[in-house]
Amino acid sequence: MDTILILDFGSQYTQLIARRIRDLGVYTEIKPGETRLDEDVLRGVRGIVLSGSPFSVYETGAPSPDPAVYSCGLPVLGICYGAQLMTQDFGGKVQALPEEEYGRIPVRLVETDPLFNGISGEFQSWMSHGDSIETVARGFRVVALTDSGIPAAIVHESLPLHGVQFHPEVTHCDHGTLILENFALNICVCEKSWTMTHYVERERAIIRERVGSAPVLLLISGGVDSTVAGALLLTCLPKEQVHLMYIDTGLMRTSESDEVMCTLHSLGATHVHRVDAQDEFLSALAGVNEPEEKRHIIGDLFIRVQEKAENSLGLGDYFLAQGTLYTDLIESGKGVGKKAHVIKSHHNVRSPLVERKRAEGRIIEPLDRLYKDEVRELGRELGVAEKVVRRHPFPGPGLGVRVLGEVTKEKCDVLRAADDEFLRQLRTRDLYDRIWQAFCVLLPVRSVGVAGDVRTYGWTVALRAVASSDGMTADVYEFDMKDLLEISAAITNRVKAVGRVVYDVSSKPPATIEWE
Ligand code: XMP
Repeated sequence: MDTILILDFGSQYTQLIARRIRDLGVYTEIKPGETRLDEDVLRGVRGIVLSGSPFSVYETGAPSPDPAVYSCGLPVLGICYGAQLMTQDFGGKVQALPEEEYGRIPVRLVETDPLFNGISGEFQSWMSHGDSIETVARGFRVVALTDSGIPAAIVHESLPLHGVQFHPEVTHCDHGTLILENFALNICVCEKSWTMTHYVERERAIIRERVGSAPVLLLISGGVDSTVAGALLLTCLPKEQVHLMYIDTGLMRTSESDEVMCTLHSLGATHVHRVDAQDEFLSALAGVNEPEEKRHIIGDLFIRVQEKAENSLGLGDYFLAQGTLYTDLIESGKGVGKKAHVIKSHHNVRSPLVERKRAEGRIIEPLDRLYKDEVRELGRELGVAEKVVRRHPFPGPGLGVRVLGEVTKEKCDVLRAADDEFLRQLRTRDLYDRIWQAFCVLLPVRSVGVAGDVRTYGWTVALRAVASSDGMTADVYEFDMKDLLEISAAITNRVKAVGRVVYDVSSKPPATIEWE
């Protein structure tokens, strides 16, 4: 498949470059900036993007690409640091600006070039840089300039090398999509072959070939990713070959486990193994208050229950399937440069079962080249219900980290009822899909209230609703006060054990999305 290879030097925008180009229908792969460009890596590659970076090109230890990038004959687009790399590598000079430039900066086209087809005159670019091109390298010409005379775009006279100082991948950059389209479709002449239909066909063929007639076990969490992975397996293998295992920890939301079962059956699953471990989890958590201790207990018990259940299935030499996404690979450092990303290790249980199957080479991860929104699109294509496809994220430890302090069944029940009402209210008000994640937290605080003429002493529930794109940072969702007041009243009216509702107005950072 025609591919644009993105060499990542640690830019905060690398993922965006990949997403924007995929949105044009062209497949993208991100690899560490220093990757050796051998035949394997370049298979299917029609063009290369050099990303931005927190480094300066002239700094000791600054990452640089394999020199083959300039001699392999493929079109290259250097973005910010990428354009400066080209400049330095071809004998030009890059230096620090007296003041860093951020945000929308006007850029003027001074020459024509296929990269800017359909664009003329001046447009607002998006800059984020502390260095700039001081002397343009020999063989390059300047195609665009900023008001202060800084080269904003350079193009080589005879080689297919292009550099832009600004970030076309950022939505605030005028004509950004057109510039990427000009590069990927016109200059690199990529075919628009990245469609979900194409992806599904390809993955199905790969799965069938790898698995043969061996059983496949998929661990289902109830979330979008594992459900879509299940749907994919069920449409490419005989149903009897696909085993789906779901562990009910008792830390799920109202009717959630039953709904997960319904979804799996509606997808045609015949071998669904629901493991009821509710009592085990609640007893293990009895008397425990400390968040990290709770997380460890839940994680460890999850592994033990999983191992026991797997043994009892007696599937022999089976394949283990997981709903790992492209971003999961990148966060665990497998996708890109070591300097770029922070690992959220506490979010992923390092299951010995998964590690063992990986070592045996018997793991299949059919979504590992997809982003979350692509998984949603795939889910729709495979007939997964819209409600499931649009589900907000839910943490592995479930209500265990949303009942603050000691977790008991009674507290989980109160939280379940409040959360159910909150989400129902959001759906009724058409707010659910506008919010990235919303949920209730049960605080270990009771407070005095009055109902009729009677004194009450109820629990306090905090509402959390955030806008985010990936959960790494988050803004508080700005409700209309009227909605907030009505939601609060609905919760206290319907859930008698709750006496008070508060709204969490903390962004991430400094807070995290979950409270524990
Ligand atoms: P925080 O609380 O770190 O959460 O801001 C960011 C996102 O990750 C989810 N989350 C988890 N997901 N296992 C998961 O699968 C976990 O242990 C876990 N902890 C937090 C959280 O719900 C939010 O979407």
